[in-house]
Amino acid sequence: MKIGSEAHKELFCRHFKATHRPFEPADLPWPELDEGGLARLRAVPFWQEVFHTERRAGAIVEAFAKTVDDPLLRAAIDLQGYEEERHARLIRFMIDRYGLAASEQPLEKLPDDVVTAFVDFGYGECLDAFLGFGVFKIARQSRFLPDALFSVFDVLMYEETRHIVFFVNWMAYNEVRWGRGAMPLRALTSLRYYARALRRLIGTVRRGADSDGTNFSATQADVFLNDFSVKRLVGECLAENTRRMSEFDRDLLRPRLLPAVGRIAFSAMRLWPGRRPSPQPV
Ligand SMILES: [Fe+2]
Ligand SMILES: [Fe+2]
Repeated sequence: MKIGSEAHKELFCRHFKATHRPFEPADLPWPELDEGGLARLRAVPFWQEVFHTERRAGAIVEAFAKTVDDPLLRAAIDLQGYEEERHARLIRFMIDRYGLAASEQPLEKLPDDVVTAFVDFGYGECLDAFLGFGVFKIARQSRFLPDALFSVFDVLMYEETRHIVFFVNWMAYNEVRWGRGAMPLRALTSLRYYARALRRLIGTVRRGADSDGTNFSATQADVFLNDFSVKRLVGECLAENTRRMSEFDRDLLRPRLLPAVGRIAFSAMRLWPGRRPSPQPV
């Protein structure tokens, strides 16, 4: 498969369309939660942020789709816009069903350069999804919330994985077309956009911690947090990335930089000797 060719474009667009799942958020198998489950779900401090991010995602992708002339690419990006808008409706449905504290905030004005906004958004999704894979797995294993709820969230995780596979292929296809397809240049471009995405993510986490983090740690979140370590997180991110990516057509590109950085970090952490007991006086 020659990256940047018509055949490449057809493959990643048709694959994206073929793996679209039609559903309405209200029809998903939302579980009944007991008082403890409700309290834990309500104490999670980032529903407001997730809801806003999904609404903003829909707006960016829809605005960008309008600027795309190629009918096949445009149909695929339109479909992604629809799915992002459906994510926002899914989160809205959950907020209403379980009485979560999150409201609809006005969306900030989109940047004039919608191409850069879409590329920034795409790298942001790659970073969020890679970290999200590990957090999701650890949270699910900790039984912080009923497994049935994680099955519903998994619908969303699957779509975000499709989005990043589509995005890395779309990006590589365009870089070839823009004359920037040589490998060192592509890696540098990725690095630059990931650095921007990381800065935004740190800002989001800081805002979340400032706003309502105390509630979360006060409500049995320790079942989740006690088991948590950076080493475990990186290990789960890598394992889940491999598992989730294996579902997609083998000819498609997948994100490579973050898993490579993750593997290096994980190897370094395994070599690290860990804490040793203090020497006892003789
Ligand atoms: Fe989304
Ligand atoms: Fe997405």
